[in-house]
Amino acid sequence: MKVAVLGAAGGIGQALALLLKNRLPAGSELSLYDIAPVTPGVAADLSHIPTDVKVTGFCGEDPSPALVGADVVLISAGVARKPGMDRSDLFNINAGIVKNLVEKCAASCPKALIGIITNPVNTTVAIAAEVLKKAGVYDKRRLFGVTTLDVIRGETFVAAAKGLNVDKVRVNVIGGHSGVTILPLLSQVEGASFTAEEVAAMTKRIQNAGTEVVEAKAGGGSATLSMGQAACRFGLSLIKGLQGEANVIECAYVEGNGEHATFFAQPVLLGKNGVETVLDYGKLSAFEQEAMDSMLATLKADIQLGVDFVK
Ligand SMILES: NC(=O)c1ccc[n+]([C@@H]2O[C@H](COP(=O)([O-])OP(=O)(O)OC[C@H]3O[C@@H](n4cnc5c(N)ncnc54)[C@H](O)[C@@H]3O)[C@@H](O)[C@H]2O)c1
Repeated sequence: MKVAVLGAAGGIGQALALLLKNRLPAGSELSLYDIAPVTPGVAADLSHIPTDVKVTGFCGEDPSPALVGADVVLISAGVARKPGMDRSDLFNINAGIVKNLVEKCAASCPKALIGIITNPVNTTVAIAAEVLKKAGVYDKRRLFGVTTLDVIRGETFVAAAKGLNVDKVRVNVIGGHSGVTILPLLSQVEGASFTAEEVAAMTKRIQNAGTEVVEAKAGGGSATLSMGQAACRFGLSLIKGLQGEANVIECAYVEGNGEHATFFAQPVLLGKNGVETVLDYGKLSAFEQEAMDSMLATLKADIQLGVDFVK
């Protein structure tokens, strides 16, 4: 398996690359690209870790050499939030970066599974889809917005609040990846029950957890280490699916059946072509149904912004 990380010299990219160097299947290749000139050095640094994963690093304007033959591309290139910023404030810079990089993916690795980490994910995934359509290589099974950070936050916070074994807690998070579009399905967490107040508070905490980190870092960036871990979990699941492992399920922001919006985060079964099946997310509580109904206008507008940007 060859995995390319675009934005590899950044906070997320370096954490993700370190985790992948240690956890990719033996014989894999990890290809790092960033505009920053330090990137070949990041690769050299990682290459001294004794695992059977070959690391190469590329910098400069053209990501193509890093992309040739990639099975999975994870994109975290772009700017991150500072205190007081919303994810949508990143649109002006990150939209163009994602557009350019996905154009290069379409040319160099049109069959790769692409995971978009760069915010605002609700919009950057729509941009990526339009770029791939224009290039004639769009396959909705192969494009993902990475929302795993919302899932691992949900799992961590719920386990801590309810005294559960964090390894066993599963929290599905549906919708999108910003503010009210993040909807953790707390009513479905096995072995945990919540009062109405607890549901409201826990939902809000998961929705605002990114801001918790942005403020705590006081201008030094947003979540990088937890995001590196989340992207590693998601990337390894993509690879397990590609390798034919059964029952690999993750929540991700994908083009599903369009019931709610063109793109929607939901549990998906992963397989040899990416999304094998978009899974039913189950029955919603009254609280969750109301949250879902009231998020859709925001989510649809976020998606439209991406479509309009490319058109
Ligand atoms: N999906 C999520 O859950 C999630 C969570 C946290 C952060 N993010 C997003 O991930 C992105 C990266 O965050 P970070 O903390 O790693 O930021 P960072 O500033 O530490 O790193 C970004 C990297 O992107 C590189 N870059 C910029 N333009 C590029 C281009 N055209 N080609 C290649 N590389 C380029 C920069 O050189 C830098 O190394 C941000 O948009 C952030 O909002 C997403």
